[in-house]
Amino acid sequence: MSDLEATARALVAEGKGILAADESTGTIKKRFDSIGVESTEENRRAYRELLFTTEGAEEFISGVILYDETIRQSSADGTPFPKLLDSKGIIPGIKVDLGAKPLALADGETITEGLDGLRERLAEYRGLGARFAKWRATYSIADDRPSEYCVWTNAHALARYAALCQEAGLVPIVEPEVLMDGEHTIEQSAKATGRALQAVYVELHDQRVDYRGTLLKANMVLSGYDAPKRASVEEVAEASLEVYYRHVPAAVPGIVFLSGGQSDEDATAHLNAMNKRGPHPWQLSFSYGRALQAPALKAWGGKPENVRAAQQAYYRRAKLNGAARTGMYAPEMEREAVPA
Ligand code: 13P
Repeated sequence: MSDLEATARALVAEGKGILAADESTGTIKKRFDSIGVESTEENRRAYRELLFTTEGAEEFISGVILYDETIRQSSADGTPFPKLLDSKGIIPGIKVDLGAKPLALADGETITEGLDGLRERLAEYRGLGARFAKWRATYSIADDRPSEYCVWTNAHALARYAALCQEAGLVPIVEPEVLMDGEHTIEQSAKATGRALQAVYVELHDQRVDYRGTLLKANMVLSGYDAPKRASVEEVAEASLEVYYRHVPAAVPGIVFLSGGQSDEDATAHLNAMNKRGPHPWQLSFSYGRALQAPALKAWGGKPENVRAAQQAYYRRAKLNGAARTGMYAPEMEREAVPA
């Protein structure tokens, strides 16, 4: 097995998943605004330290995706974050795209930028301790969206990124995210997700990427958040699996889901329902940002005296999602106490 495949498989080890802590400076500001905390570099550092030093989280967390600022920061005792994570057996990763920008001549659609100079940036990040990377493309659903133009330009860029990662010895997490905002049906979501995935695997193949040394970061197939009739947990599990079975090669070691604005409990229940229907050709795991962090962020509120409560909240979500990795989660577990 190649080193890349070994890393990809370690990231989806049984009972474990990934913490996405790679919010850009703009996004973390929005999260901090929601709790009334100023987004200073020190506050961002202190918040990430709280997450990374949570005792026992490594039982359920295999890797953490960092942001450019975060991978260069250190804990209060001076330990660089990548080293701190490594010492707990957690694999450090890095977001390397530069964000989704308007796609020319395609009203309302986006293309993700960041390929220029990427080879050099990947080498630097590897030197700083990263072992995997993430690049996110986004697609919205409407009558004529996503367009073939948007689907193929983003697939091409995702594959160029993935090939550069493998060349640099980093596992690429390939993330084509179909956004779930809007009133669309679950059938529309299935069609758009299938289309995006199909193009991604054509491009990855044609650009010589070894699927075994990659992970897919996928959206779940949901009805739109404003749809008049929302699909149930079982319907989501069934529709999502049908799409992945059609479009994701069995050589891919794992699919790690984004939460994408679902409530934290929904994200856990959906993952659980899919794993209950296993075994599947790939591991089905999580790479949640909001669904792992929301309760912790709220409990913290920017106050040092709340660090312990925030860590407990994060530990609890990590543990419940760890249970969902093997279909062992039950909503009643939401009410069980976690050890102090
Ligand atoms: P959410 O789980 O908050 O969607 O974030 C995951 C992520 O990394 C999106 O790129």
